[in-house]
Amino acid sequence: MSVQELFGAIESSPEFGQIPIIDVSLFSPSSIASKQAEIELYKFRSALSSSGCFQAIGHGISSSFLDRVREAATQFFELPVEEKQKYSREFHGGSEGYGNDVIVSEKQVLDWSYRLTLRVFPEHQRRLNLWPENPNDFGEVVHEYSTKIKLMMGVLYKAMAKSLNLEENSFSDQLLGEQALMQARFNFYPRCSRPDKVLGVKPHTDRSGITVLLQDKEVEGLQVLVDGKWVRVPVLPHAIVVNLGDQMQIMSNGIFKSPMHRVVTNPERMRLSVALFNEPDPDTEIGPVEKLVDETRPRLYKNVKNYGRINYECYQRGEIALETVKI
Ligand code: SIN
Ligand code: FE2
Repeated sequence: MSVQELFGAIESSPEFGQIPIIDVSLFSPSSIASKQAEIELYKFRSALSSSGCFQAIGHGISSSFLDRVREAATQFFELPVEEKQKYSREFHGGSEGYGNDVIVSEKQVLDWSYRLTLRVFPEHQRRLNLWPENPNDFGEVVHEYSTKIKLMMGVLYKAMAKSLNLEENSFSDQLLGEQALMQARFNFYPRCSRPDKVLGVKPHTDRSGITVLLQDKEVEGLQVLVDGKWVRVPVLPHAIVVNLGDQMQIMSNGIFKSPMHRVVTNPERMRLSVALFNEPDPDTEIGPVEKLVDETRPRLYKNVKNYGRINYECYQRGEIALETVKI
């Protein structure tokens, strides 16, 4: 698929059924040594090296709580505009808060979405004046959800290391240390009468180590590029979508993939999603894990600090950030 096709035509016919379902309960310390876990770990490694994406089940978070997370986000987006504007990114400055795309050029194609972005970890960096007061348990729900997901991310980073025969903390030490960042992004996609022309989110890769995405309970929209074809990520009400970001592709020396993905719009129904992105703090240097570099697999990426900023600046210039840190 050419770059033009990738970013241009929306009316491709996406494929179905290529995003594996992984039971992450098998990666808990009490199960990881079992035969069943070995099989799941194999599936996990091949998912991360091909699509870079899977649907996690066995995560231990109840469906009713996942519904509450979706509901709290929906209640916020349903508030009157003036109420939401109190949390506006433009008004408060910085990258956090409520709004649409940051406009950098007249030619820019805008995403059909509204977003609320909040830093959730480290806890002392929360800008609580940007956290909605309505619904009144919003903060509590987000805190509980992100704490649970952080634990799951720890389990996943360890399983990733194990699947590559590495020390268990090979990824988590840098990506999930005390000062590591976690950003929450609540996405609201209104109905759109021209889904053939407009995307909810343009094709991109995430800058994170790992992204955990709670999809809308009913309305599909996320698509991942696998072997040059767009693949639909179906709605499975109890599953949570996991995709890798660029920083994991760098640390795994290209073995794991940070998938290109996009969101299509829907003419009949609005869609909601909640993404949690984890990345190291900007002062932490990341680079390919030494044990993954040898004669058969030369080092593919330079060591970098503050990849988040590199990625942001590349995005503004329409460049692919991973390309700029390639050797
Ligand atoms: C994103 O990748 O930015 C959003 C994903 C989604 O809403 O499904
Ligand atoms: Fe994304």
